[in-house]
This record gives sequence, structure tokens and C-alpha cells, in this order.
Amino acid sequence: MTITTLKQRSLLGLKDLSKEEIISILDRAAYWEAQPDKVKPVLQGKFVANMFFENSTRTRFSFEVAEKRLGAEVLNFSAAVSSVQKGESIYDTVRTLESMGIDAGVIRLKPIGVLADLATKIKVPLINAGDGNNEHPTQALLDIYTMRKHFGELKGLTVAIVGDILHSRVARSNLWALQKLGVQVRFCAPPNMVAADLAAEYISMEEALKADVIMMLRVQLERHENGMIKSAEDYREHYGLTVERAQRLAPHAIIMHPAPINRNVEIDDELVEHPQSRIFPQMENGVPVRMAVIERALV
Ligand code: CP
Repeated sequence: MTITTLKQRSLLGLKDLSKEEIISILDRAAYWEAQPDKVKPVLQGKFVANMFFENSTRTRFSFEVAEKRLGAEVLNFSAAVSSVQKGESIYDTVRTLESMGIDAGVIRLKPIGVLADLATKIKVPLINAGDGNNEHPTQALLDIYTMRKHFGELKGLTVAIVGDILHSRVARSNLWALQKLGVQVRFCAPPNMVAADLAAEYISMEEALKADVIMMLRVQLERHENGMIKSAEDYREHYGLTVERAQRLAPHAIIMHPAPINRNVEIDDELVEHPQSRIFPQMENGVPVRMAVIERALV
């Protein structure tokens, strides 16, 4: 595989992916979603390693389902039960799996910048399954796929992303991809969760309720320094999507959240499976989107 091809087959982020490539992945996901057979073994004989150095439920399992639906052989690596616990580095771990003959790696990492460096050293396609607070490209692709399924056309939509923007790789990947697709993205965040490096307008919670899509973000307590939020109640009062606030959404508007959810903090319990919520459909859409991404890496 040439270096150019390897780069094209990897998916490290959406910032540098063209609009055409994004649309091509979404179209292929629609193809996979429409397939009547649960398994179509186009990746028979290919080995894919899912390497999660940080916890995950949705991303890890939907990649595994996607890989199995394409007939790939799946290796699941979990840092908690690996030699990482003996001090082995991320590079040595990935290099070890590469040396055993994997054809592609799906990787989730906590430290920022490590993935970009790994991609220069590893010779099989790598797919970013969440990279610090940098990017989470397949999450944004499934979010955009969900929006396109609901609205048909993306151009001209308004999307409000609300919450912990500073620590959110989901907000970053969505912003960069949605802007290329002609969507107006605006953020709403507490002052200490604003990301100064991102070129987007910040709006009030009242304004955010007027958007076509309101995407609530998880308050990422594990990435916070002490005292970033006063209390869960205080956060909900100022930045939560409460039942009362949801009544002010337009009837055509949809509620999204990448999950996991802090119920009754960033979103009220009653709204998670509300008729306007697309939170579980987002998870469902993760499988065909990841099938398209894995296929792109290996076929
Ligand atoms: N949305 C998301 O990335 O969820 P997981 O952390 O469970 O994979």
C-alpha cells in the first residue's frame, strides 16, 4: 500500500477530509443500512484490531458489529487487561498488533497528539475512535448521517451544540464537517467551557432552542479540573435541556446527544426518548456509518 493510499484509507479526523469524501461515506452508509442481509462478508480474511486505551461502549461495540457484519476477523484489545498495565507504551502496543498482521486498527486514545504521530509510523490504516479532546470523526459522521436522514438536505440547517465545548472532540469534528456541508453551527457553553481555538459564534441557551438541531454534550467530569461546575443542579438550571425548555423547540427540531448521558444534568430524563429525540437512532446509525468507514479502509 502506498503512503498516499494509506493516508486516504485512514480516518484520523474530519478537519482535513473533503466535502466529497464525507458525502461519499454517508452515501455508502445508506447503502449498508439498506442491505437486507445482516452479514455480507466483503472483508473475509481481513483482521481488524479495536484498540481502546480509553473506556467506550457505543463506539467500541458498533465498530465490532460493523466489522463482523462485513465478515472481518475482529481482535479486541482492552488496555485494562493488557501489558499497558505493565508500562508498555501505546506505540509499542500498536506496533505489536501490526507485527502480528492486522490489516487495520481502530483506536481510541486519551492523550492528544499521539494518534497523528502513530499514523506516521504504522503502516496499516488507522481509524480514530476518539482522540483526546481533538476529534471523534465517526461520531460526527453518524451525527450528520442522522441529521441527513431526518431533514433530507443538510445545507441551510442550523445546529446548536450546547455544553462542554472545551473538552469535546464531538463538537470539533461536527463543527469542521458541518461547516463544509453548508450548515450553520453555533455553540452555547458556560464561560469556562468555551474553546477559544474554534471559529464559531457563541449564543445563549434561549437562542440555541431556535435551532433545527440541538445537540447536547455530556459534562465531561473526568476531564475537569476541580470546580468547573458548581453542582449538577446549577448546570442543569443554566445549560440543561429541561422539559420546560424543550417545549420551546420548533416542532420540526430534533434533539441529539452523542452519549453517554448524564440524565438530569445536561438533558432531562424524560427527553432522552422523547419523540423529537434522535439519541438512540444516532447509536443505530453508528453501525452502517462505521461499516462504510471500515470498508473504505480495507477494500
Ligand atoms: N459517543 C461515544 O463515543 O460513546 P462511547 O464513549 O460509549 O464510545
